Amino acid sequence: MSQKNLPLFFFAVFVSQATFAQTASLKATFRNDFLIGAAVNTRQIEERDTTAARLIPAQFNALTPENIMKAEVIHPGWDRYNFELADKLVDYARKQGIHVNAHNLIWHSQLPRYVQRIKDVDSFRTWFTGHISAIAARYDGKVYSWDVVNEALNEDGTMRNSIFHKMLGDDFVVEAFRLAQKAAPHTKLYYNDYNIEQPAKRAGAIALIKKIQAAGVRIDGVGIQGHWRAANVPLKDIEESIRAFSALGIEVMFTELDLGVLPNPWDNTTAEVGQTAAYNANMNPYAGGLPDSVERMQADAYASLFRLFLAYKGKVTRITFWGVDDSGSWLNDWPIRGRTNYPLLFDRHGQPKGSFFSIIAIKNTTANN
Ligand code: XIL
Repeated sequence: MSQKNLPLFFFAVFVSQATFAQTASLKATFRNDFLIGAAVNTRQIEERDTTAARLIPAQFNALTPENIMKAEVIHPGWDRYNFELADKLVDYARKQGIHVNAHNLIWHSQLPRYVQRIKDVDSFRTWFTGHISAIAARYDGKVYSWDVVNEALNEDGTMRNSIFHKMLGDDFVVEAFRLAQKAAPHTKLYYNDYNIEQPAKRAGAIALIKKIQAAGVRIDGVGIQGHWRAANVPLKDIEESIRAFSALGIEVMFTELDLGVLPNPWDNTTAEVGQTAAYNANMNPYAGGLPDSVERMQADAYASLFRLFLAYKGKVTRITFWGVDDSGSWLNDWPIRGRTNYPLLFDRHGQPKGSFFSIIAIKNTTANN
């Protein structure tokens, strides 16, 4: 290309990306492959976030409530349920033709204090049974699926020493699925956890799923959360996990995907919400903006990941991002409060990033499309 044409060339790229931004749609691009979801917060559910109100119907065909169906919000007192926001989400999704993955029934975190204080096993079991039965029944036929149990495992694949485990023993997971199956016969039932692509924890998850199946109880799928770092996505472990989990005859989903770009305060990768670290400026290097080189690195990481997902379409049934755009990501405040992270496909103004374009481009060039 001559020097003279260079400005024209850049202008053309700019225009094509700008037009692309208005027309390209994740859900349309991957409609024959898997659902494309996002986690939504209260402002988004109440349709007060204008950016999300534009992006959600255009880009996503699945939604997961980020917090409002967790026990502390939906079941704040022994006899008190707060269904308002969940009902609103279900109505909104129905109008837009979007699947809802309800998140979650049983999790040790964001569990109301009155539950944590229960001392005797019988009362605990009564709460456990009532909680699952009431909520799962209310939304049966209204939500597409439930994360029935979230994060029951330790990194080495053994059972986490949660209040559920202490009170009810190893069988609480099977019991949770049994109760959910009874209350929600029309709803898909999933186990969800982080780091279950890692070999030891994966083996624990496989054992858990087999145990549910051996008890004759229904489990339809497994969700690998996918809170990874853009610089270090464990592709090989992910591929092995897709194969191993789908060999159990269940769906495999990536349920909370985000690829953070900020320094990690620890050597290991975790998504343990209770584990936090102190702020210092070195840990927040991109407060003024995302450098091009980092944006490109993230775009490449997302491209490799989606190339893998496409190779396993049919086994992988949903990819959900943990947020709509970078402004709302939990990774701005976890594991360190007050940082500026850039883990998602849309920037703080709801504009598509390099990672968005690289994912769309993968679909248009891959042999699997
Ligand atoms: C996070 C939410 O994004 C935050 O807003 C909240 O403060 C803590 O929980 N694994 C999960 C999600 O299963 O429910 C968590 O969501 C992130 C880690």
